Amino acid sequence: MKAIVVTDQAVGTAGMTLVERPEPEPAINDVVVQVHASGFVPTEMAWPSTWTDRLNRDRTPSIPGHELAGVVTALGYGTTGLSVGQRVFGLTDWTRDGTLAEYAAVEARNLAPLPGDVDFTVGASLPISGLTAWQGLFEHGRLRAGQSVLVHGAAGAVGSIVTQLAREAGAYVVGTGRAADRQTVLDFGAMEFVDLENDALEELGGVDLVFDVIGGDIAKRSAGLIRAGGTLVSVVGPPEASPENGQAVDFVVESDRAQLGEIVQRVRDGRLSTNIGHVATLDNAVAALNPTERIKGKTIIRVRP
Ligand SMILES: NC(=O)c1ccc[n+]([C@@H]2O[C@H](COP(=O)([O-])OP(=O)(O)OC[C@H]3O[C@@H](n4cnc5c(N)ncnc54)[C@H](OP(=O)(O)O)[C@@H]3O)[C@@H](O)[C@H]2O)c1
Repeated sequence: MKAIVVTDQAVGTAGMTLVERPEPEPAINDVVVQVHASGFVPTEMAWPSTWTDRLNRDRTPSIPGHELAGVVTALGYGTTGLSVGQRVFGLTDWTRDGTLAEYAAVEARNLAPLPGDVDFTVGASLPISGLTAWQGLFEHGRLRAGQSVLVHGAAGAVGSIVTQLAREAGAYVVGTGRAADRQTVLDFGAMEFVDLENDALEELGGVDLVFDVIGGDIAKRSAGLIRAGGTLVSVVGPPEASPENGQAVDFVVESDRAQLGEIVQRVRDGRLSTNIGHVATLDNAVAALNPTERIKGKTIIRVRP
């Protein structure tokens, strides 16, 4: 099969090459999925799991990409819950070969059915950003209607879904980003926008929840905005400062079939829009994932036409 591999962490995405690889075999409780569309997070090249397995052994050349939408072509020993021919989407294991390939082996429990009226490209854009937004807001942030949420990077893949889900849940949403993203963030449903390069974050007053995708100084300054009992949720590692009378949580997204179902249902009924910026073929994936200028929205690789 055709697949993108990486072998050298030092060169990052520039080291991606399109090669021939053997098709994966399904292990216990796995399915093999014929990948129709694949999602990639640019920071994957910095994740240890891209380079080593759970025992810290070198696993290069490794296939990046951990989001997929496609069709099940084989079941592993003992696999239940999914069947051959079924349309699926979901998040794949960080330490196994990923989804920038024609086929991927995935534990069935990590996937959810993809309804027939949802395009594979849309399906592949949802797992990481959708589940991260859901888990950060509702599990770790315990968001309730009427609370206020500060969403950093609200024009990005994760932030745009956080903004929409928080609005739907009845929160007052303030989105942040670069000046050029103001309208995009308001269009995703934020009531206010803070331009992180030109506005003073501190003028915002108190919020109940900060959802941070940026880290560093932005996270540190945000901790001071959190009201008593509030939460700073980070997806970019432990924040350097915690809220004085609240809590700080950092987490890595996990797969969850029921939550994937909730997310895709919102896309079907129009409550949630995806943030896809560019779609490229697997043959053009290396160039598409090494853009020479700033691109808006998520890049999806359409592996099959
Ligand atoms: N822990 C987890 O489970 C988890 C899950 C998903 C993602 N993540 C992490 O979350 C981060 C965001 O992911 P994403 O896919 O949402 O990325 P993304 O689509 O690039 O979104 C990030 C947004 O934040 C903006 N931004 C970044 N730094 C900024 C700054 N200093 N000032 C103003 N705006 C800034 C970006 O603008 P520009 O494009 O102009 O920089 C972009 O609009 C990544 O580091 C990713 O690895 C973690």
